[in-house]
Amino acid sequence: MSIRITDSVTWVGKKDWELRDFHGMEYSTHRGSSYNSYLVRDEKVALIDTVWQPFAEEFVENLKKEIDLKEIDYIIINHGEIDHSGALPELMREIPETPIYCTRNGARSIKGHYHQDWNFVEVKTGDRLSLGKKELIFIEARMLHWPDSMFCYLTGENILFSNDAFGQHYATEFFFNDEVDQAELYQESIKYYANILTPFSSFVRKKIEEFVSLNLPLSMICTSHGIIWRDNPLQIVEQYMEWADDYQEDQITLIYDTMWNGTRRMAEAIAAGIREAKPEMTVKLYNTGRTDKNDVITEVFKSKAIVVGSPTINRGILTSIAAILEEIRGLEFKNKKAAAFGCYGWSGESVKMITGLLGECGMTLINDGLRTLWNPDPASIARCVEFGKEIAAAVD
Ligand code: FEO
Repeated sequence: MSIRITDSVTWVGKKDWELRDFHGMEYSTHRGSSYNSYLVRDEKVALIDTVWQPFAEEFVENLKKEIDLKEIDYIIINHGEIDHSGALPELMREIPETPIYCTRNGARSIKGHYHQDWNFVEVKTGDRLSLGKKELIFIEARMLHWPDSMFCYLTGENILFSNDAFGQHYATEFFFNDEVDQAELYQESIKYYANILTPFSSFVRKKIEEFVSLNLPLSMICTSHGIIWRDNPLQIVEQYMEWADDYQEDQITLIYDTMWNGTRRMAEAIAAGIREAKPEMTVKLYNTGRTDKNDVITEVFKSKAIVVGSPTINRGILTSIAAILEEIRGLEFKNKKAAAFGCYGWSGESVKMITGLLGECGMTLINDGLRTLWNPDPASIARCVEFGKEIAAAVD
């Protein structure tokens, strides 16, 4: 399948309806994804990015229906990760001399993946490639989201090909942002930012400011995953600036796992205390043993504070809580408060351990946490409610 996007740009990518996890099991893709590849025709022809390796053969066969491969003058690889470069081996078997334009790190990455010495042309920010009447302008986008990432901009059509940035893992029958369910689009966009781009927020801000300073008109943002932004494309740029600025909503999120429901009952009582003290605050609860971790991370991203609970087991904490805290540590959330809780029967280390891990995550600790011996009795539940009120009072 190919779809004409503008007079000179044709989408030649692949919609992956079945994909349910990405980066191994690191990212859940409830709505699938797409690998967007674009053919740009002028006096010269450029192919921008390819698709993931399992679809390489299908991609090349499809591309042959659109164009004689020998008419492709340039291949642009904005990012070497294999969901975009994966069809290169199949493609380069057919047109082995075609130059591949990428950053220096892009060439390192592609060589590292495929061990082929193809005809690489390394580009830097501001370099231009004439296609005839139109030009491609290259813009390095280091750490958006890998060291090799770059954007390219098509003059005349005023299109930014942004690769991973501004994307979503979202397979839909549609191609443009104004055609899809807006709630789904927002959810997939914020999940993508929260789980992939959060650690690089300072780079996001600088890169957007740099792009804006170039004063290039913008008609469309063609991402490499999900939909194309054609209706007010600046809306996602402005949204990224907001998310990159230590984004928060009036939300406190409780994250817990439980063995015999004691820690769950504590969580519910703490939530009741927060609601009683601050009715305007959104309070959400997630059992990490039963909830998709990327969905939980998206809620952490939106929160002013998180309250994390686990009972004590084997002088430690339940593994789903250990896993989500490791995820949170790596994402380097800024300006968030936190506290720990949990019940215990014997040694009772979990609250101290979680408190320590929250500190390593860069969270501002509200207190030393709350632990409850055995299953909480009415007095313990009342302490949990008061603990919730203390947390609410600490969050503006
Ligand atoms: Fe869509 Fe970083 O690959």
